[in-house]
Amino acid sequence: MAAIKNIGILTSGGDSPGMNAAIRAVVRTGIYHGIDIYGIRRGYQGMIEGDIFKMETTDVSNIIQRGGTILKTARSNDFMTMEGMEKAYGQLNKHKIEALVLIGGDGTFRGAVDFFEKYTIPAVGIPGTIDKDLAGTDFTIGFDTAVNTAVEAIDKIRDTAEAHDRLFIIEVMGRDAGYIALNSGLACGAEDILIPEQVTNIEDVLNRIDSDERRKKTVHIIVVAEGDDYGGAKEFYAIIKERFPLLDVRSCVLGHIQRGGSPSFADRILASRLGYAAVNALRTGNTQVMAGIINGGIVFTPFKNVIKGDSPINSDMLEMIAILSK
Ligand code: F6P
Repeated sequence: MAAIKNIGILTSGGDSPGMNAAIRAVVRTGIYHGIDIYGIRRGYQGMIEGDIFKMETTDVSNIIQRGGTILKTARSNDFMTMEGMEKAYGQLNKHKIEALVLIGGDGTFRGAVDFFEKYTIPAVGIPGTIDKDLAGTDFTIGFDTAVNTAVEAIDKIRDTAEAHDRLFIIEVMGRDAGYIALNSGLACGAEDILIPEQVTNIEDVLNRIDSDERRKKTVHIIVVAEGDDYGGAKEFYAIIKERFPLLDVRSCVLGHIQRGGSPSFADRILASRLGYAAVNALRTGNTQVMAGIINGGIVFTPFKNVIKGDSPINSDMLEMIAILSK
């Protein structure tokens, strides 16, 4: 097997805190092994447009602690077309890119599966998404930071909710996945956690509010993932107000603050380990896989097995949350 001489790297989809730490690890590991690293800006869209530049060690100085991604990111509709993929492949050839490191989430690896069905180029993925909606890894880069951001915000809201004896509905991110809601809700002692993976029984939710009212439990925090089947904070506010017009209710959407900020130590270390592992996997011919972490060890899973639907919510955790929130 001929040694790889250069690698292209991109970040795609929603950014996540720690992507920069992963880029740094890939660039420095590659250069250490005499491999040239080419940054591809704005994900697959930049690949199509040939927005590609050679990266030096100094390009990744002072970024380990920064949120966002120095390579920028995008969701590319063009890459979903045959024409877009052909252009992207043409650009890789033009820049003599022999292998790829793809950092992103579900959409990134779906794109990869389609692309590699048509074109042969070695690639390794790194899971970077706050949503944690991928199989093949216990954690994704950015998830820990996003949950910590949500926890800090919910704690603050609890202070004011307590002061006013209010019910608060707090919407966190997660279009298809409830991991941020589940983990931040559990960590903050939420009375209810509503997630897309579980059908919401609205009568149960209203009954719990009713019994809290009668028990004079003055604060009631509901954490809802944006992709819950009943909708987000706005929809629940309307439903609750209709049933309990006199109840003092407020709602809050945490939004994109969950995607930004300095990565936690856990995300920096995860990103560094996965970036290092991804380059070494390419060097040893382990390709078309995502590098993940399972039980503390690095595990490689084929792209087609990591895309969503394969990462079920732990039912023991749901049961525990129901008991602890009583
Ligand atoms: O990155 C994942 C995610 O944060 C989802 O939870 C959310 O639905 C989505 O991105 C929002 O993305 P954007 O506003 O960038 O389109």
